[in-house]
Amino acid sequence: MITAHVVYATITGNNEDIADIITERLEDRGIEVNETEISQTDANVFLECDICIVCPYTYDEGALPEEGLDFFDDLQELDLSEKIYGVAGSGDTFYEEYFNVAVDRFDDAFKKAGAIKATDNIKINLEPDGHDIEALDEFSDDLILAAQKQQSND
Ligand SMILES: Cc1cc2nc3c(=O)[nH]c(=O)nc-3n(C[C@H](O)[C@H](O)[C@H](O)COP(=O)(O)O)c2cc1C
Repeated sequence: MITAHVVYATITGNNEDIADIITERLEDRGIEVNETEISQTDANVFLECDICIVCPYTYDEGALPEEGLDFFDDLQELDLSEKIYGVAGSGDTFYEEYFNVAVDRFDDAFKKAGAIKATDNIKINLEPDGHDIEALDEFSDDLILAAQKQQSND
């Protein structure tokens, strides 16, 4: 069975909503999913699953979530080759060039860890709307397809 871990960082709930939407889609498709908050999660959990997902908010003009800094540092040190990853987050377009910078930073961290990018990053403005939910469903489906391909190669 394919397994996934969804890690989110949130202050006002938008990124938890995004994580919930992804988790629900994956579960509907038969994936076994864990969903946890970033400060309560050891980055090593990604060693134990097939699909690794992070849903971060961005703060203070491009800053990572403060409570996720240890997780971020540890993530880059892992060997996640063979693992499929995706990053989807909510920020605020008001911050213009800093919009959802944390999504790009986590994407870089996964790349450093050698993980396989299976779908485009998703950057959502504030709370996810109907269009965003469709995009998140597609994102989840892309991750599943990539994990299935990966398993059939093993
Ligand atoms: C003080 C402050 C700074 C912020 N800085 C940024 C930023 O640099 N880039 C961005 O995209 N969003 C920024 N935001 C917006 C949040 O990322 C956005 O509201 C997001 O949806 C919060 O996610 P959450 O509901 O999961 O906490 C900032 C919000 C606050 C209150």
